[in-house]
Amino acid sequence: MPEPDPFHFDDLDSQWLHRKPGAKWHRYGPEQLNAWVADMDWRPAPVIVDRLRHVLDRGDLGYPDWEESTGLPELFAARMEQRFGWRLDPSETIEFNDVVQALQVVLRHTTTPGDAIAYHVPSYPPFHDSFETAHLDEIRLEARLTEDGWRWDADALRVAAGSNPRLKIVLVCNPQNPTGRCLTRSELVEIVAVAEEHDLLIIADEIHADLVYEPGVHVPIASISPAAASRTVTINAASKSFNLAGLRWAIAHIGPQTLRETLKAQPVHLYGAANMMAIAAVTAAWTEGDEWLAAVVRKLDSNRHLLGELLTKHFPEVGYRAPEATYLAWLDFRSLGWEDEPDEVARRRGVELFAGTKFGEIGRGWARLNFATSAEMIERIVKRIARRMP
Ligand SMILES: Cc1ncc(COP(=O)(O)O)c(C=O)c1O
Repeated sequence: MPEPDPFHFDDLDSQWLHRKPGAKWHRYGPEQLNAWVADMDWRPAPVIVDRLRHVLDRGDLGYPDWEESTGLPELFAARMEQRFGWRLDPSETIEFNDVVQALQVVLRHTTTPGDAIAYHVPSYPPFHDSFETAHLDEIRLEARLTEDGWRWDADALRVAAGSNPRLKIVLVCNPQNPTGRCLTRSELVEIVAVAEEHDLLIIADEIHADLVYEPGVHVPIASISPAAASRTVTINAASKSFNLAGLRWAIAHIGPQTLRETLKAQPVHLYGAANMMAIAAVTAAWTEGDEWLAAVVRKLDSNRHLLGELLTKHFPEVGYRAPEATYLAWLDFRSLGWEDEPDEVARRRGVELFAGTKFGEIGRGWARLNFATSAEMIERIVKRIARRMP
């Protein structure tokens, strides 16, 4: 049996949290408890901190040798094969500064204004922002909440593709933010089938792939078949699973050959370049970080159930279904009949949640809560939202 809390995830000093300079704990002032943006409250893995210290100890923050590979595409390929059985050629990847940048670059090379893109809602807000700035029509496929959880409707995608000749792309965020859905292989096979029938490019955001709870299994959509891979751009990063968003690094596997050649032919400065600290941190994460990651996933698994128990006890009117993946809880406040949106009510009660409407109109009456924190903090958050404690 593994030790229950080897990295002391429950020992979070709230004064330390309130002093953190990042957006999550800084933006809304010292009185608030913060469960909004998707950063974990924990320090990065000790192996990552050690590696970063080592970079500083060497005393060289000059140019890395850009004629050499960062080594990260090779580590990414090895990791995808080892964890998910997906074999990819590292030379088919491009490194970016973040996932949304990669998405935007791909949109700019694959669409013209007025083309359409389909994606599931509720959804991570920067997707909509990216589509809007690329002047794309959005086909929002609404997720349905059933007795068995959130359902993804491939038929709606098929109908949309059949009736809209300008539909060029389907974006698949899996695992999904904010519902925490981890799509099954058969659901992914269906999406690939529609993409093949209607010649759609698939853009897969798989940044939450490491954060799937048993019995769920992450299946990279590009691993479904060589044909699927050849029409898929898969974007990933170490930033969610290892809590490194501030280091700005992501990677994309560009399956379609022509697109890959086009992107690789762009001037290198267009995408920026990986920074030395990010290279060190991601290398440590992907070579030595798995013990920490496994412990984090165990802790998050326990937290997602704890959140359910606390809501049942203190605020049973809130609808909650434990996510299959991610550390994000998608909470349904609609039965309360509040005039204000739940994040506004929560804010007045001293908790910052992410507004449901940011995830699309379908999110009205909902809010997203981040439970990557200590058990004690989750309890304080729930009690505050429920007004069980001043
Ligand atoms: C689904 C999804 N994609 C992308 C990101 C952000 O990635 P990046 O900071 O690399 O743009 C997040 C952050 O929470 C996310 O949840």
